[in-house]
Amino acid sequence: MSKSPITKRASQIHPFHVMRLLARARALEAMGRDIVHMEVGEPDFKTPQPIIDAGIAAVSTGNVHYTAATGLMALKEKLSAHYQVTYGVSVNPNQIVITPGSSGALLLSLACLVEPGKKVLLADPGYPCNRNFSYFLDGEVKAIAVDASTNYQLTAELIESNWDENTVAVILASPSNPTGTLIDSTLLQGMIDVVENKNGVIVMDEIYHGLVYQQQTHSILEFTQNAFVVNSFSKYYGMTGWRVGWCVVPERYLTAVDNFAQNIFLAAPTPAQHAALAAFSDETNLILEQRRKEFKKRRDYLLPKIQALGFNVSSEPQGAFYIYADSSNITDDSEHFTEHLLEQAGVAITPGMDFGTNRAKQHVRFAYTTSMERLAEGIKRIKKYIDGM
Ligand SMILES: Cc1ncc(COP(=O)(O)O)c(C=O)c1O
Repeated sequence: MSKSPITKRASQIHPFHVMRLLARARALEAMGRDIVHMEVGEPDFKTPQPIIDAGIAAVSTGNVHYTAATGLMALKEKLSAHYQVTYGVSVNPNQIVITPGSSGALLLSLACLVEPGKKVLLADPGYPCNRNFSYFLDGEVKAIAVDASTNYQLTAELIESNWDENTVAVILASPSNPTGTLIDSTLLQGMIDVVENKNGVIVMDEIYHGLVYQQQTHSILEFTQNAFVVNSFSKYYGMTGWRVGWCVVPERYLTAVDNFAQNIFLAAPTPAQHAALAAFSDETNLILEQRRKEFKKRRDYLLPKIQALGFNVSSEPQGAFYIYADSSNITDDSEHFTEHLLEQAGVAITPGMDFGTNRAKQHVRFAYTTSMERLAEGIKRIKKYIDGM
């Protein structure tokens, strides 16, 4: 066996279980099985045509050199206008840094805040990569169990009682992955007060903004200038594979973020940045709005159907494209359940363990990133499988 070195952090960062599930689903498909995919965390719709056209036009000029590390000024200006129009907040384009997806934005933000021994607070269940970014930076994580009583979100009280002298930041996400729940804006103000009072910083993940079905969406920037806002063209704009997102960076951290970006990524992909310039056109808006309505239709269909199957959803998902369901009426081992559901019924859903440890074996996540027809087929198969259990 080789004695070449490998870091401790290499063993701290675990793969998603859903990736194993997806690989198995693909293998079954290669053998001729039909699989209903309700595990995938990306829109099934293709990138809107005006965005594709803008990307192709940029590539065909041959001008695919590096942009500035913090991104194309024209794109920052479009984003700045977007904050004004959507939330009524004025954001200086220089404070917007274009990143390779919001993943790049999360890494840059946390690189400013986390160091060995320092701790980040986050909700469990929550987006799995968040804690891994912190481990990657040799930081620590306090995952706080949340449930329907707080709409699966942290609260000012939870932040206050879990804060200690090593805590530096809180990661919030609204809408959340996996629960699709929002943070109420009056409660958000309370959280901001607690964190600012402790001289900490909030990293706010707004990647599912745009995919909110009834409520009005608020950006944290309406309440404070002192938060990192992480966002992306991946989900609402349907650009997952283009790898382009952004971060709104508090003034104090701008030089650090620029330096990190220059050294770690050089820049976000140039064709993707040019393509994203078309994300705010009227034509694209029409397409995206129509898709949002389609996602709402899917949610409104799927939620009562899975409840009728015996899954319990105690906090109605208000956005994103996920339903996080308590499966304890059906199974006490959701990992085992999702594996068998795939093998025997040909339906892929995600086990709770991908999102933390808080009652993870009693939960599953459904993604409605497939057509109404396929959702109906999935429900039919799950029903038959459960009836036969
Ligand atoms: C809550 C949340 N944040 C961030 C990301 C990362 O997305 P991207 O890097 O494609 O912008 C995801 C992807 O699933 C997510 O669900």
